[in-house]
Amino acid sequence: MKFFIDTANLAQIREAQELGILDGVTTNPSLMAKEGIKGDKNIMGHYADICDIVEGDVSAEVISTDFEGMKEEGGRLARLHEQIVVKVPMTFEGIKTIRYFGEKGIKTNCTLVFSAGQALLAAKAGATYVSPFLGRLDDMSTDSSQLIAEMRMIYDNYGYNTKILAASIRHTMHIVNCAKIGADVVTAPLSALKGLISHTLTDIGLAKFLEDYKRVIDPS
Ligand code: G3P
Repeated sequence: MKFFIDTANLAQIREAQELGILDGVTTNPSLMAKEGIKGDKNIMGHYADICDIVEGDVSAEVISTDFEGMKEEGGRLARLHEQIVVKVPMTFEGIKTIRYFGEKGIKTNCTLVFSAGQALLAAKAGATYVSPFLGRLDDMSTDSSQLIAEMRMIYDNYGYNTKILAASIRHTMHIVNCAKIGADVVTAPLSALKGLISHTLTDIGLAKFLEDYKRVIDPS
């Protein structure tokens, strides 16, 4: 399973990269706004900075909602850097855009996916990635694991190459559940990625090892 980080924060992207497990980055307009990046030039520059830090795919989302606008904006994003994946919303115009970019060999990430039907349509249109939002479904008392399992079954039934990119990850169990079901990628905040490291028994065990070693090797 690939690990992406879901942030536009350069320091956090660097930290995940230093850990050596990072395969890519996803951003969205809310995450870009959180970093206070304004203006087309700065936004493009920020995406380029992200691409300089990581080696894998970097999702950059269009903010146009019509086909012509998404085509123009997505084209500019794709030309910016070979690592850029054009992130497009799950709408009628978005599906047309995904098909258009697919035919041009430009990678896409279909975002805001909440049902198996939407996931099927995005794969049929040729999306490179499809992003189901787990946390937002769970927030509404809907089992997000069920959606990942349905998507896995549908994509495997027909051999779709579209990758399941589980998004809106809130905690470590989302990541573990995705791995158990067979999502291709999870994109998570740094806190959830680092959360996988922690276990109280690891901390207790390490403290005991060091204490025992010190007692024998350096008894002073
Ligand atoms: O990038 C899309 C997604 O990961 C958003 O997550 O936490 O805002 O639901 P969240």
